[in-house]
Amino acid sequence: MTNADFTPRVFSGIQPSGGLTLGNYLGALKRFVDMQNAGTHECVYCMVDQHAITVWQNPADLRNNTRELAAFFIASGVDPERSILFNQSQVPAHAQLGWIFNCVARMGWMSRMTQWKDKSGKNSENASLGLFGYPALMAADILVYHATHVPVGDDQKQHLELTRDIAAKFNHDYGVDFFPITEPVIDGPAKRVMSLTDGTKKMSKSDPSDKSRINMSDDADAIARKFRKARTDPDPLPDSYEGLKDRPEARNLVDIFAALSERTREDVMGEVQGMQWGAFKPLLADLAVEKLSPISVEMTRLLDDPGEIDRILGRGAERAEEIANPILAKTYEIVGMVASK
Ligand code: TRP
Repeated sequence: MTNADFTPRVFSGIQPSGGLTLGNYLGALKRFVDMQNAGTHECVYCMVDQHAITVWQNPADLRNNTRELAAFFIASGVDPERSILFNQSQVPAHAQLGWIFNCVARMGWMSRMTQWKDKSGKNSENASLGLFGYPALMAADILVYHATHVPVGDDQKQHLELTRDIAAKFNHDYGVDFFPITEPVIDGPAKRVMSLTDGTKKMSKSDPSDKSRINMSDDADAIARKFRKARTDPDPLPDSYEGLKDRPEARNLVDIFAALSERTREDVMGEVQGMQWGAFKPLLADLAVEKLSPISVEMTRLLDDPGEIDRILGRGAERAEEIANPILAKTYEIVGMVASK
């Protein structure tokens, strides 16, 4: 059996740990919407609350952040009828398959994960066991749907490779051809949106400077102001995209412009080459306001009725279970678990 024998299905997840930025929009949400609209894959999108609690989350914040993230998905264009949208903890099959994968994955594989090393830091004795095992749960998120494609950022590439290793080892150990070897989908002009104050760092909700990022909750004035003040260098825009090679801040602004306007970088360079920043930045600011303001307005509207968001997530979880439960049941059977009910 090859991947071509599996239903084309996309799975991706985002942690509801608060602080949504332009990086989340261009690096994840916008691509999720594009994949949904392409209509070639069934799309399953998940708010991974069980991943979020691998580091401490205040319960009230977790609840709010989950609803806010759901509103962000919907406001950005994920249609909960066409895609499947839900939060992880409502579908127990993730954690159940996660346990099986805890028994497939090796300690050595997990200890080599760079995110584990970064997040546990010097104090790994005090990190949660969940943080260490996190990639096995992530593999379960994906494989409990037999997902064939996973859109993720660069930083998740290693976890995707581990997902493939887990699928291959399970298939090998049990002598089956059951789990697909999932393909990462890492592309687009702004797969990695950088900080507005330091083009070598990723835009992050945890940067101490609010000027370094565009928050999805920023109003039009804040968006425009932050782009106008974004760090650049003294030179005008070059003639071609290659000319931005050693100019990280400049390149980031061009990448953001291209991603927001859904044009290629080369096409954008054709229009803006030779421009001074004083001319380019207002163009970028206007474009960003035009694209982002409607999303934040719609998020606010949706969040006015949390009951409706909860109903949407409940319905999404039911639909997710229709796919996940039979795959979990088959996994149990392969492993040799007795099922008498
Ligand atoms: N690990 C991802 C992140 O931190 C979130 C995630 C959890 C995920 N499960 C997933 C992403 C499955 C893609 C597929 O960003």
